[in-house]
Amino acid sequence: MTDTVSNADVARVSEIIAARSGLHFPENRFVDLERGLAASAKQLGLPDLSSLMKKIRSSGINAQEFEVIVFNLTIKETYCFRDKKILEALEHSIIPLYTMARRNAKKTLRIWSAGCSTGEEPYTIAIMLHRLMPDLAEWDITLLATDLNPSSIEKARDGVYNQWAFRETPAIIRDSYFQRNADGRYRVKPHIRRMVTFECLNLATAEFPSVLNNTNSMDIILCRNVLMYFSREVISRIVDNYYRSLLDGGWLVVSPAETSHIYYNQFKLVNFEGATLYRKDVSGKKSDPAGVKYPVSVVPAVSDVTADLDKLIPLVSAPDKMPLTESAFQKTIVESPASESVSTAGNSHEDSRESYEQALQFYGDGMNEKAEETLNAFYEKNREHEGAMTLLARICADRGKLEEALQWCDSALQVNRLAPGLYYLRSVICQEQGQLEEAIISMKKALYLDSDFIMANYSLGNLELNMGRPGSAEKYFRTSGILLSRLKQDEILPESGGLTAGRLSEILKSTFAYKERSGD
Ligand SMILES: C[S@@+](CC[C@H](N)C(=O)[O-])C[C@H]1O[C@@H](n2cnc3c(N)ncnc32)[C@H](O)[C@@H]1O
Repeated sequence: MTDTVSNADVARVSEIIAARSGLHFPENRFVDLERGLAASAKQLGLPDLSSLMKKIRSSGINAQEFEVIVFNLTIKETYCFRDKKILEALEHSIIPLYTMARRNAKKTLRIWSAGCSTGEEPYTIAIMLHRLMPDLAEWDITLLATDLNPSSIEKARDGVYNQWAFRETPAIIRDSYFQRNADGRYRVKPHIRRMVTFECLNLATAEFPSVLNNTNSMDIILCRNVLMYFSREVISRIVDNYYRSLLDGGWLVVSPAETSHIYYNQFKLVNFEGATLYRKDVSGKKSDPAGVKYPVSVVPAVSDVTADLDKLIPLVSAPDKMPLTESAFQKTIVESPASESVSTAGNSHEDSRESYEQALQFYGDGMNEKAEETLNAFYEKNREHEGAMTLLARICADRGKLEEALQWCDSALQVNRLAPGLYYLRSVICQEQGQLEEAIISMKKALYLDSDFIMANYSLGNLELNMGRPGSAEKYFRTSGILLSRLKQDEILPESGGLTAGRLSEILKSTFAYKERSGD
């Protein structure tokens, strides 16, 4: 505390700020309050902290000046793909819940990122939707993103970020959805930018839900790392408003630090692996304090998202899709071509093999760029080498260069038309490009060559399901089940990125349970 301001003065200013912004500065945070005010005084051209405090107490602060103050008092820290566990619950369970339930109904999805800061959170969700929903163009998606700070909203609309914003983002996502500027920063690509509507909105004072600010009829509200800065009364009021903003069956997502039984008792607690979410449940039943448990990666399927939670049946995850989280990008090393012949054009056979093996080593160590470089050089002298081309296809796919990946796949297939793994890889790449018909053709070729290929059977089932052909999907799922029953539980499935036979069996069981009950 400086000697020019009294504790009582700071307390009064703290109250005024809380009433206008919801921001809560109790006595143990007076130091932060004063620091923010001192910075504001400077920016507003006032001589010192006490003159600004006097101005605030005499209600002499206009809207623009207040904006400056609030900007200096808020924590704006955010980044892309923040909190993996919550994102996994959204990616594997909640979003698929809606896409499955509304596939044959009105295809609308309404999501609100409240307290979005500079936009990294809503853009993360937009990218997730883009990757999860091949038929995105047919959906009416609302992705509303709001914040109190107009300058944060301006920055969010611009969508330009430095490398630090991607500290939790897989490089493949960054490179696929952001353009690198000349200054080394990254800008969200226009098709993702267009998915998000940014607006200024003060959660403490705004009227919501309201059609006027588009805060009504939401399916999912994300309000992460925002409520923690408010007083108890303000939190209760905002959470109450969120409850009313959500449709029946809708979800409230807060950060792990903000979960608390005190504020959310109208909601039903739903536990995912490593994440607790709140669901609006209109059944009137009291929430089990321990919460409802869903294993992550299992979609609670409902024919109608307003259905009673107790009737929810787990459906199916999509482990064969490249998920968004880092683990999904773990590399599976292309089998070492120990027995493969290496053609040598003028170069020594040994040198050639060495550089190929070196490339495999780089790939195994996650040094994709080096692996690609080494392989390209190797390929120049070994143009018929299937292993090199396959590995190049994988690396390009990992790095988001899907067109190039597809070309390498096709070149490898020219050399060996009988490689089921190559058709499988080709199919996965086509899925990433949203070319589902083409993906199905390649997957069928993989199966034609190896009818015991479990991941191909399973993936084809998912592809058929995505195309709205549940009968055909079931055929492939059943074959997968039969094949799996011959394996040990802990056996890793080829081309699965580490999925065990036991885990896939569980997923399949859930799939059948859903199908039987939904009468598909
Ligand atoms: C720490 S950031 C959280 C950003 C993002 N949700 C995340 O978790 O990464 C908190 C944001 O809440 C915003 N905020 C604070 N008070 C607010 C209010 N009364 N109304 C709306 N937004 C507010 C701040 O401006 C800031 O951008």
